[in-house]
Amino acid sequence: MSFATSQPALSATGVGVRLGGVTVIEEADLTLHAGDLVLLTGPNGAGKSTFIACIAGQLPGVEGEMIFKGENILALPPARLAKRGIGRTFQISRAFLHMSVLENMMAAYVIASGKWASLSGRVYAEKIDRAHAMLETVGLAERSRDTVADLSLGDRKRLEFGMALAADPDLLLLDEPTAGMSIKERHFLMEMVAERVDATGKTLIFVEHDIDVVMKIARRVTVMVRGAILAQGSPEDIKANDEVQAVYLGGGH
Ligand SMILES: Nc1ncnc2c1ncn2[C@@H]1O[C@H](COP(=O)(O)OP(=O)(O)O)[C@@H](O)[C@H]1O
Ligand SMILES: [Mg+2]
Repeated sequence: MSFATSQPALSATGVGVRLGGVTVIEEADLTLHAGDLVLLTGPNGAGKSTFIACIAGQLPGVEGEMIFKGENILALPPARLAKRGIGRTFQISRAFLHMSVLENMMAAYVIASGKWASLSGRVYAEKIDRAHAMLETVGLAERSRDTVADLSLGDRKRLEFGMALAADPDLLLLDEPTAGMSIKERHFLMEMVAERVDATGKTLIFVEHDIDVVMKIARRVTVMVRGAILAQGSPEDIKANDEVQAVYLGGGH
């Protein structure tokens, strides 16, 4: 699916979320264009994961409007959104820990194809080829027989990124994919993600709370603070933004 460059891939307006009687997100607006790689950053508790959950259809009763491919997707459940081309990964790993790397990747392809009920030898052979190719892409070909529980955190996150790509989403939401990683693993993952975005034209939101890491990779940065979007712009704009500086230097981090 491709979009005219003038048409946003995702346009969220006036998004509001209340959880347990508390306003977690208020009047948040976000526009993404096809091929955008947006880094969503902000202090812990700012509402980043909640915002991702809103887009991915995991929260009931969200206010506002979320237009994706010309349709308001706000009330659609995750499975319907996946069919429309929205995929995500989670802050906490959700791979099947006791299955092998290859089995996990196979599961992702089979689930994405919707053919699990009629898995034939031909379908299996095709999926396993694709699973191997994706493991190659995310740098896990050598680990394909290993159990996920035995992988490093960095390798697990790369596996999950590959599993999310298996559904070939147009919009991919990555919630803190680098959480808990070493600096080297972070750079590796970020470069891989940026390369995939460039190679495929996918639109991507990447949640990352470390602002130094954000500045290295982002083309566009969105800063969330206390449930609101504080600033959006190029890394240079964000660096020069006094309000953002105040949040990060003022102990709000
Ligand atoms: N189910 C919930 N009920 C009440 N408050 C919640 C719930 N989930 C998250 N929150 C609150 O919403 C705020 C934003 O959380 P979150 O989206 O996880 O932030 P971030 O991902 O930016 O760290 C936090 O203050 C958190 O305590
Ligand atoms: Mg979070």
